[in-house]
Amino acid sequence: MKVGIISGSHRKNSQSMRIAQWVEKRLSQTGITQRTTILELATAEIPMWDEGTWEGDERWKKIWGGHSQDLTSCDAFVIVAPEYGGMVPPALKNIFLLANNQEFAHKPALIVAISAGRSGTYPVAELRMSSYKNTRICYLPDHMIIRDVEKQFKSDEPADRFEADARARLDYFLKLLREYSKALSAVRASGVVDLKTFPNGL
Ligand SMILES: Cc1cc2nc3c(=O)[nH]c(=O)nc-3n(C[C@H](O)[C@H](O)[C@H](O)COP(=O)(O)O)c2cc1C
Repeated sequence: MKVGIISGSHRKNSQSMRIAQWVEKRLSQTGITQRTTILELATAEIPMWDEGTWEGDERWKKIWGGHSQDLTSCDAFVIVAPEYGGMVPPALKNIFLLANNQEFAHKPALIVAISAGRSGTYPVAELRMSSYKNTRICYLPDHMIIRDVEKQFKSDEPADRFEADARARLDYFLKLLREYSKALSAVRASGVVDLKTFPNGL
């Protein structure tokens, strides 16, 4: 199983990237998979969507082609989404517009929402509400919300019982992601998926 981890922050040296790297480390340490790729949107320099993406512009092939191939080669995803003004950052929403070549289609994804304070629910709600319709990404019923992120997931030992619970949940959700990945690969191989006739959801 290859897992694509997307760090949704616009900021270099972000907490989202730090957590993305933690997720990558846990995927390896727990023996779930060593096959991972991290797409850090803060440094990837992917412009905002424009109509050229639909017209097969050479410019867009150069910008997005490599990322598209990398995402297509993944079997599952972890979406690390910081809360910006109670929303998902635009760079992350942009990815869901650009990914119109089945990169995410019928593949499982774990949402990991990030907040420096006590928030973090809005990115979960927004992703669950609006990012799956055309991408056909399949979010796990469970998700992570990491609050007070700057103090969490830093040292070898959790700071308190709440962080211990969060760490245990993350490992459990990553194991679930692997099982959903196995199950959904059967859906993709079934021959039933027809995104040519039904490219857009309702
Ligand atoms: C533009 C912007 C808006 C933010 N809005 C919120 C917010 O609505 N709720 C919240 O809990 N934190 C908010 N934060 C703080 C982030 O939770 C904090 O920066 C955290 O470190 C995650 O972002 P990062 O991955 O970019 O570091 C905001 C941060 C930025 C840069």
